[in-house]
Amino acid sequence: MIYFDNSATTKPYPEVLQSYMTVAEKYFGNPSSIHAIGAEAERLLSQSRSVTAQLLRVKPTEIIFTSGGTEGNNLAIKGTAIKHRSRGRHVITTGIEHASVSAAFKQLEMLGFEVTYLSVGKEGIVSVEELKRSLRDDTILVSVMHVNNEMGAIQPIEEIGRLLQQYPKAVFHVDYVQGIGKVPLDFKKAHIDLCTMSGHKFHSVKGTGILYVREGVAIDPILSGGQQEKYYRSGTENLPGIVAMTKALRMTLEKQEETRQKLHRMKEELVSFFSIVPRAAINTPKASAPHILNVSFLGLKPEVLVHALEERGIYVSTKSACSSKAKELSHVLLEMGLGQKAAESAIRISFSNQNTMEEIEQFKVIIQTTISKLYEVTR
Ligand SMILES: Cc1ncc(COP(=O)(O)O)c(C=O)c1O
Repeated sequence: MIYFDNSATTKPYPEVLQSYMTVAEKYFGNPSSIHAIGAEAERLLSQSRSVTAQLLRVKPTEIIFTSGGTEGNNLAIKGTAIKHRSRGRHVITTGIEHASVSAAFKQLEMLGFEVTYLSVGKEGIVSVEELKRSLRDDTILVSVMHVNNEMGAIQPIEEIGRLLQQYPKAVFHVDYVQGIGKVPLDFKKAHIDLCTMSGHKFHSVKGTGILYVREGVAIDPILSGGQQEKYYRSGTENLPGIVAMTKALRMTLEKQEETRQKLHRMKEELVSFFSIVPRAAINTPKASAPHILNVSFLGLKPEVLVHALEERGIYVSTKSACSSKAKELSHVLLEMGLGQKAAESAIRISFSNQNTMEEIEQFKVIIQTTISKLYEVTR
């Protein structure tokens, strides 16, 4: 099997699964319980928070454990809008966000907020000038993703953060789900207020995530109840998941540079290969994250190609995993102006550090024969 769908999800590290099992079995107490078993669980939770904060170079009080990217994005966006609605009702995002951001903004629209959607150019990048023109006195939130999940385009987060320093009313949220472990981001230097991460994208178990909430930034909770996670996120903490994710984060960040170089080599190899394959069009911009490559095979239906590759043991995807079953064309490709034809035939290939150059070589041979056959039958 060759698994090239790592932007959809990654395989957990064996050590991470081991940690999960150990904590689930031995430290099953509720961190909120006042007896010794609860206190032991609470100690582990607090240790995980400190290690996570250290790894992300922030304070432990700035870490909120969540169930993943969707929850983190919803909490950041709706939590900010609800908290600061009396300050203003204008919010800004981009036209290429993941559904967990764009759908949250759609809900805000229904609640009477005015949303500005920033456009992207051919390289998939927003213009800081356009953002500057869109900012108003009543803008309370700007949400821009770091690495785009379909294309790999990287947004100018630091530049945006610097600009927003002049607009203290506007909270700055970044969806860092695809970037973490592959494209470094200094939260402090970029003046980020809220930052979403998801464990299963960096070899942790599913149902784990982090929302960074900068000290001094206030949001309202979405889940109300027992007031865990500093009131922001009620519900008994997923301690085995949190400990496992902390381990995955440490392992991921420890080898970040080595991973980045390896991913870059694999991607470059495929870019050179596809650039001479007839009717293949590379959609991913040159300056992009090292683990995502989006390619169109003009005239071929992506789902047909995905299944044909699957028969040969290769797993890639059409667009983002959560919307890949939907029939509409990729909004990201269309927003980038790559055209209907490219959008109708695009697949996403995404790597992790568990892939190898040998897999790339095998993939080249298999995809070449697969597309030749498919073109023959569709002639
Ligand atoms: C950019 C981006 N944001 C958010 C999410 C949602 O994360 P989760 O699957 O953890 O809810 C994803 C998942 O594909 C993503 O790629």
